[in-house]
Amino acid sequence: MTILVTGARGNVARALVGRLLEDGHEVRAAGRDPGRARLPGGVEVVAADLGRPESWDVALDGVTKAFLYAGTAGLGGFLARASGLTQVVLLSALGADPASEDAITRAHGEAEQAVRAAGIPWTFLRPGGFAANRLLWADSIRAGVVRDPFPDSHSALVHEADIAAVAACALTSSGHLGAVYSLTGPESLTVRRQALLVGQAAGRSVRVETQDLDDYRRELTAAFEARGLGRVGSAEVVEARIRRLAALVDRPQATTETVLAVTGRPARSFADWADDHAGDFA
Ligand SMILES: NC(=O)c1ccc[n+]([C@@H]2O[C@H](COP(=O)([O-])OP(=O)(O)OC[C@H]3O[C@@H](n4cnc5c(N)ncnc54)[C@H](OP(=O)(O)O)[C@@H]3O)[C@@H](O)[C@H]2O)c1
Repeated sequence: MTILVTGARGNVARALVGRLLEDGHEVRAAGRDPGRARLPGGVEVVAADLGRPESWDVALDGVTKAFLYAGTAGLGGFLARASGLTQVVLLSALGADPASEDAITRAHGEAEQAVRAAGIPWTFLRPGGFAANRLLWADSIRAGVVRDPFPDSHSALVHEADIAAVAACALTSSGHLGAVYSLTGPESLTVRRQALLVGQAAGRSVRVETQDLDDYRRELTAAFEARGLGRVGSAEVVEARIRRLAALVDRPQATTETVLAVTGRPARSFADWADDHAGDFA
């Protein structure tokens, strides 16, 4: 049984490939640029791109299950070729809803809708904000100053290893078809607290300054354009992100127990994530 993991360069995909290999499963990774995927040696990596539907013919050959990123542009081409799969685990997002006014939850809701309509058995992972978003702080942590427009905004950021662990359980054990898993980290922390923890892990003292909102818009737009799936206009996504952050100023984000319920292990804390990534901030 070969499991296809799409988005080979993604944080979650990388963690999932490692996890599946460790557990002795046959894995094929697919990415737009296989040469740039930093995956464990020995894993097969094939070139595939949601923008080139025909590229999935080779990637899906002999595959029974797949882990899929939720880019809606090109998802139809993938799903049309994936009708023989026994399961798709879709990386969606917390609150996914095709009728939402929020561009992020709407795009993920549309992706879920496309998967349901394809008739392939599915499992939806709906993580909230990723701890890995804080990798964008690497230069700031090194410089000792994190700038953010909402330093007192809360988030219960989830470790990519926990999303991967839930994905691995969903793909390799029974009882997960038709399940929708909302995933968060175990605790809601302010940006200030997160910056302090990353600074501690990296061995640096860090102060937090309030950033001008337009500067933040520019930075986030550039980051999305460099890495995003291009499924919705990045300006809309940036504005949706800003509204969410503003809504969580001085207000803790609700957490879920899903990581524990599915994997039997409590979700990793943000401090764990910072320790695991200390090298990225050194
Ligand atoms: N960041 C968050 O807070 C958050 C919260 C909830 C949900 N999510 C979901 O998680 C995704 C990001 O996950 P991540 O951090 O693991 O990824 P990432 O490190 O940001 O990388 C983006 C991924 O998208 C893949 N991709 C982009 N365009 C593609 C295309 N045309 N065809 C096939 N694959 C394509 C990339 O694959 P290759 O470059 O290897 O081809 C890469 O794996 C978001 O796009 C969103 O759907 C994110």
